[in-house]
Amino acid sequence: MQYPTNLTDALEFIWGEGILSPGGPEEVAQMLEGIDLCGRRVLDIGSGLGGIDVLLAAKHGAAAVIGIDVEPQLIDSARDLAAKKGLAGRVTFQLVTTGKLPFADASFDLVFSKDAMVHIADKLAVYSEVFRVLKPGGWFIAADWLWSEGAAEGAVVHAWLSKMQLTFAFTPPADALQALIDAGFAEPGVADRRHELQEANRKEVALLEGPIRQRLAAMVGTEMAESRLASAKGRQAALDSGCLIPCHLRGRR
Ligand SMILES: C[S@@+](CC[C@H](N)C(=O)[O-])C[C@H]1O[C@@H](n2cnc3c(N)ncnc32)[C@H](O)[C@@H]1O
Repeated sequence: MQYPTNLTDALEFIWGEGILSPGGPEEVAQMLEGIDLCGRRVLDIGSGLGGIDVLLAAKHGAAAVIGIDVEPQLIDSARDLAAKKGLAGRVTFQLVTTGKLPFADASFDLVFSKDAMVHIADKLAVYSEVFRVLKPGGWFIAADWLWSEGAAEGAVVHAWLSKMQLTFAFTPPADALQALIDAGFAEPGVADRRHELQEANRKEVALLEGPIRQRLAAMVGTEMAESRLASAKGRQAALDSGCLIPCHLRGRR
């Protein structure tokens, strides 16, 4: 299990109800710019606690959202959140394993993913599956953490990752773009968001250096609260060095 409850409680405390990644509703809205979800059927890969799936239905008007994840306790929490928001009929969750997506060809109008692809090593395999389950004309939209060529060998990245409990599978932007093309996507795009994330991450470090950390420690323990601060600082160094490159990916079937 990569996302135990004390970690997800800490991430949710920092980033908002049901959310395990930075950016919140504003970033989701940016990702969906120019895409009308009203009445559409959406797959969310790596749905975590389900906060983004609730947003896709309640704020963006998706008719049906299916969130998939590999951790059963996250699926349970996400179902509870959808029920609490009165959306259990439209927002559902399914436990999966990495690999072939358990859906028929051309099942979805949009495949969405927020900060989850970074856990999946074989980008071409996952993009190809996304392509398969999309309806013709449907969009794949994802936020993902990529990195510069050779970053893995760098001291900054090494120092950051050595403080993390999570396992990541980063890829350089050029490789991600090529994998989108190889998977068959039209209009493929990889947009560098490092400046936005540098700003957001600086605010996160400042927040965790302040009195909030004591509140977080009271909730999840001192060790976890300190580890969130160390992780935010390590991520800042990786962003500032140019090694870590958060991106928005797009492709159309
Ligand atoms: C950083 S969290 C993001 C969760 C959610 N998208 C959000 O932004 O709040 C990454 C999520 O990806 C999930 N995940 C990891 N590998 C996966 C896979 N192969 N398929 C689906 N989900 C996966 C994790 O369990 C976790 O819930």
